[in-house]
Amino acid sequence: MGRRIALFTGLLLALSACDGRHNWMAGAGAEAATVERLFIVLMIGAAVIWTAVVGAAVYAHTRRAHPNREREARLFVIWGGAVLPTLLIGALLVWGLTILRDITADEGDLTVRVDGERWWWRVIYETPGGDVVTANEIRLPVGSTTLFRLTADDVIHSFWVPALGGKMDMIPGRETTLALTPVKTGNWGGLCAEFCGGAHALMRFDTVVMEPAAFDLWLEQEAQPAQVAAGDPGFEVFLDEGCGACHAIRGTEAAGPVGPDLTHMARRERLGAGIYDMTAANVSRWITDTHAMKPDIDMPPYPHLDGARLEALVDFLMRLE
Ligand code: CUA
Repeated sequence: MGRRIALFTGLLLALSACDGRHNWMAGAGAEAATVERLFIVLMIGAAVIWTAVVGAAVYAHTRRAHPNREREARLFVIWGGAVLPTLLIGALLVWGLTILRDITADEGDLTVRVDGERWWWRVIYETPGGDVVTANEIRLPVGSTTLFRLTADDVIHSFWVPALGGKMDMIPGRETTLALTPVKTGNWGGLCAEFCGGAHALMRFDTVVMEPAAFDLWLEQEAQPAQVAAGDPGFEVFLDEGCGACHAIRGTEAAGPVGPDLTHMARRERLGAGIYDMTAANVSRWITDTHAMKPDIDMPPYPHLDGARLEALVDFLMRLE
């Protein structure tokens, strides 16, 4: 018995994703609260229906068949077996659909486009001054509604920040929308919730919810081009190795549209789409031993880079703040 209770408790903890960052019951988002309410009401609805059905079965078992009660029995089956369940489940369905409308709103205080790539996230803030492009980290102001316009490059992904609200599919050639209103500051985990190929389980991102003033400052800095000194030895290596064919660093001639924008790479908390801490050691290994850190991705490894050239490149990248 003790073992069974332990197993059950373990299962409950696993279901609630108890690491906190991914907990949909963390109370971090208005839309997550809506989903939580839906869950609780549906659970209560299910419990009521289950109790009624099991109760009726037990009651029937204790009774003998009685020819005089045929009419009563038929009425009971019609009302209890068809009319009541249809009304109850229909009401839950209608209510659930109105909630769906709430979280797929088409406007927000801020609009962010997110593009699902294999296996990372292209993030574009729409601002009055133009688009601000970043990757793999989304920062949001607390207390405001952000409208996410979602799409995908070539396969279907699913955008999910459990602590903030429900998930939404990202479909190539189509745009889906999702509104999120964070109510608690913190770094909430985001992930891809649809199997999309080799590195699906390593397709994550940070969602950093900030005070509005700090967010405005961050976005303003993010919109600036990179500060790269003429003749920077690390940038020379970057260009020599052809990194600029895939990666863009705004303010320089590197304008590759394929991989993540690196303009302010070193300000991000993590490397490799939410997987590794952004440290010089990790960046160095990422360049030389890419597929050991994240299998199947398009970026080729550069194992021939070592010594002073690798050091200069990593030093340059870690200065992209
Ligand atoms: Cu993208 Cu799973």
